[in-house]
Amino acid sequence: MRIDIPEAVSLLKNGEVVAIPSETVYGLAAGLYREEAVDKIFKLKNRPLNNPLIIHTDSLEEIELLSCDFPKEARDLAEAFWPGPLTLVLPCKDNIPEKIRAGLPTAAFRIPNHPLTLKLLKSVGPVVAPSANLSGRPSATTPEHVEEDFGENFPVLDGGACIRGLESTILGYHEGSWEVYRLGAIPAEAFFDILGYIPGVLKLKKGENPLCPGQLYRHYAPKAHLALSEEFVPCQVIIGYSNRKYPEGYEVLHLGHSDNPIEVSQNLYSVLRKLDQQNIDSAWVDMRIPNEGIWSTIIERLQKAASTEIK
Ligand code: TXA
Ligand code: MG
Repeated sequence: MRIDIPEAVSLLKNGEVVAIPSETVYGLAAGLYREEAVDKIFKLKNRPLNNPLIIHTDSLEEIELLSCDFPKEARDLAEAFWPGPLTLVLPCKDNIPEKIRAGLPTAAFRIPNHPLTLKLLKSVGPVVAPSANLSGRPSATTPEHVEEDFGENFPVLDGGACIRGLESTILGYHEGSWEVYRLGAIPAEAFFDILGYIPGVLKLKKGENPLCPGQLYRHYAPKAHLALSEEFVPCQVIIGYSNRKYPEGYEVLHLGHSDNPIEVSQNLYSVLRKLDQQNIDSAWVDMRIPNEGIWSTIIERLQKAASTEIK
């Protein structure tokens, strides 16, 4: 069910959950202090309780009120990338409900860059918003995707298709330097100018408490088996690029032009969702793409979508 800003404001103020647009993916929003609505998010998504939520606001001042440490570099990052697809993990005050941060001493913050959502946040204050998909499924980048997962009657603030199509990049400060907790719409290389180094990608160590619990779970996954390789693997369909030729007789689901990672990002989750819509059980994904910039995020998402190892 498509709703407008006044309806979304009223639902959120009444402790309901609504889907909101962002430049990355759609989110399922609940007021920061609406405990029942926050519980409802975990239930709706079937999300493990140890996977914390990102707090979304429309201003740095609000984030300063909620975090206890906002180092200079975090401010520089915020000024360079907010509003935008960057999430910062910062030590937080205990005025942030424990459930939201899954008991961690930190919380994740972001100022999203979507005109409707920025307007909404101005009226309702901070909200938590995980991606608006069932846990483990591909994220939602259109209102139709949200309705696919949560039903036609689920309230969605319709902001059109998400222009980035990949989740925010998550940065956290760990053992003396910033690290990428989750690759995302901003490539790690883009932080060089602010930090003076390219932050490394956090590695999960076996048996250790994960710094970013979401990385534990199977993500972005269609039901189909995905064969990721540079060489053609005969499968039911091919996931490829609009400017390339593929063997005859196969349906090709196009991600976009192979020189345009933004276009590929925008289409990635739609294509993965199409596999389920069409009941496809195997697809070859053309991996002749460079492992750099946003392509690295696309590769990581495809690897997670193809993985049978992580839950
Ligand atoms: O682009 C995005 O970030 C989207 C839109 C809606 O803003 N949101 C999103 O939320 O992707 P979600 O819940 O699907 O992913 C949030 C990730 C999870 O991997 C979670 O573990 C991590 O953020 N996270 C949240 N709080 C954290 C914290 N305090 N420390 C480390 N990781 C945290
Ligand atoms: Mg998610």
